[in-house]
Amino acid sequence: MAYQSVKGTNDTLPSKSYQWHYIEDIFRKSADLFGYKELRTPIFEKTEVFSRSLGEETDIVGKEMYTFEDKGGDMLTLRPEMTAALVRSVIQHSLANEVSDLRLWYFGPFFRRERAQKGRYRQFHQFGAECISSPNPEADVEVIQLAVEIINRLGIDDYKLLLNSIGNTESRKVYKEELVKYLKSHNDKLSADSRNRLEKNPLRVLDSKDSGDREVVENAPVILDYLDDVSKSHFDQVKNLLDQLGIPYEIEDKLVRGLDYYCHTVFEFQSTALGAQNSFGGGGRYDGLFSQLGGKDTPAVGFAMGVERLLLIVDEIGKMPRPEPDCEFYIVNKSEKNIPVSFKIQDILRRHCKSVISDLQRRSVKGQFKESGKLNAPYTITIHDDYPETGKITLKHFDKGIQEDISLEELENYKFD
Ligand code: HAM
Repeated sequence: MAYQSVKGTNDTLPSKSYQWHYIEDIFRKSADLFGYKELRTPIFEKTEVFSRSLGEETDIVGKEMYTFEDKGGDMLTLRPEMTAALVRSVIQHSLANEVSDLRLWYFGPFFRRERAQKGRYRQFHQFGAECISSPNPEADVEVIQLAVEIINRLGIDDYKLLLNSIGNTESRKVYKEELVKYLKSHNDKLSADSRNRLEKNPLRVLDSKDSGDREVVENAPVILDYLDDVSKSHFDQVKNLLDQLGIPYEIEDKLVRGLDYYCHTVFEFQSTALGAQNSFGGGGRYDGLFSQLGGKDTPAVGFAMGVERLLLIVDEIGKMPRPEPDCEFYIVNKSEKNIPVSFKIQDILRRHCKSVISDLQRRSVKGQFKESGKLNAPYTITIHDDYPETGKITLKHFDKGIQEDISLEELENYKFD
């Protein structure tokens, strides 16, 4: 039996690759407009980079990482997300010392062993942006604004921005005590996983997908009621600036996001076009992560968006652009003796930056015209049997209804628009 791809992984077929180029161009352009520069890191890192950053009790570290021991005995992990890897890289290369505000973006594949379904894959792609060094709420708003820029450029208007604050460490300490008290009083209704997390990392109980846990969590105390003045002021300033920019949001007081490194602002983008996997992006502030990974204390905030999910939305709402024709010119060659002429013509066209293909199967003239129609090429060039005598080829532009016989010299100087 022929091999199949690994469950939860996708091939991007040639008929769809243009959609990726389209969305990648929008990521690049938007990042550029906000002065963000690209950072690329390896696909795998030492396992600790992720386990120490994301938290041992998270679903990602506990259940979903592709971790393996390499031949030298090192424990390595295929990156499940970028923030930890990016912070590792920024510390390693002292990037945060070079500019006062370090603005970075990334795009690439990530790996989580989740239950595969529409919009949830084991290899998926993220575009993300991280703003490093500013402790101020305007940095939080800047990254949200960049995400909104991308969403707008993609033509997505039916989406929700959910916003919450999980405060600073002091606020969370008080809140966690209250949360544990509450959860303990409902211990019998909690799943085994949540009972375990309750002791080690109670905030993670709020992420649980178990229906019994969800019922308990429904009436749990909310962190917004426990924010201290510093945390409250930070959050108020974020909301205020968003209001002034006209970026609509909804406060979701149970939103904590399933990763340990967050503090203060957390946010998530949701779309109804997606079904069960409705979250197409998320992020937040992570002021403690640099010191946790051995760097000096550096505040930072960022987000990541799932590219497959964005593509699903754009397709679903009918905003996916149509593909460009596979090529602009197709050469119909009526005689094998003129193959060298065909190559010369193609060379001329490519120097004019025109894409061109010819038949490599030595098909009949009829077959070649049929192929040209299938490819939707706006131009054909026909090389007739008697080319050596006439020195002329026929250039046909379908849309304009133009057909003319020209020499190769004339083709060299042709004014294509
Ligand atoms: P995350 O919420 O885990 O955050 O992932 C961000 C986005 O990646 C999700 O909203 C979703 O669209 C996409 N995604 C995640 N898992 C999958 C999957 N299995 N299949 C398809 N798409 C998926 C982070 O990764 C954080 N690093 C975001 C961040 C950046 N926070 C601060 N800076």
